[in-house]
Amino acid sequence: MIIAIDGPAASGKGTLACRIARHFGLAWLDTGLLYRAVARDVRAAGHSLEDALAAAAAARALDPATLDDPALRGPGAGDAASIVARIAEVRAALLEFQRAFAHRPSGAVLDGRDIGTVVCPDADVKIFVTATPEVRAQRRYQERKNRGESVTYEAVLEDIRRRDERDAGREAAPMQQARDAVLLDTSDLDIEAAFDTAVGVISRKVGQRGHP
Ligand code: DC
Repeated sequence: MIIAIDGPAASGKGTLACRIARHFGLAWLDTGLLYRAVARDVRAAGHSLEDALAAAAAARALDPATLDDPALRGPGAGDAASIVARIAEVRAALLEFQRAFAHRPSGAVLDGRDIGTVVCPDADVKIFVTATPEVRAQRRYQERKNRGESVTYEAVLEDIRRRDERDAGREAAPMQQARDAVLLDTSDLDIEAAFDTAVGVISRKVGQRGHP
């Protein structure tokens, strides 16, 4: 079983994907980490994030063993990722790894922006998780404040709007709800309610298809 979870920054899709994977006993890949790691490696090699050749080379050379680097969750890493993610050659270089991960016999949950549309158009279940920019900004602001970062709500909202625009507006595999995805708006839901709704959607879909 392949479950595709897409959605904008700070929609809660990562937390949801992790919990769904655990609940159904599936492997989980946070595909945002791949783009974050490419941005890290491009910078570490001394290149600009806009340098398509350098970024494609970094994507081809990416070592998945480095994806647990805590710096990938740090401030600025998501924004840098969305810059290299516009480059078609970077996306192409990361495609095979994501597809191989998805098609493992034991099944997988992948979360990102283009999983239901490009990486796994054949996924058994597709969920597009969203929430208003203000709600997402509030959640991300709280998270960062709790980590002791000095940040303002306005700056977080601005970052979220800029990232939405870049991710949805690019030519290569833009963030988009797949036609056969179920929309899950978490603006008024906490994580427990969002999780229960997602489990309901998955159980229904999988039940209809008749396999576990
Ligand atoms: O999910 P995230 O915030 O960690 O993703 C960081 C950036 O990576 C996101 O702004 C755009 C890019 N990305 C992408 O283009 N496609 C994906 N499947 C996942 C992430």
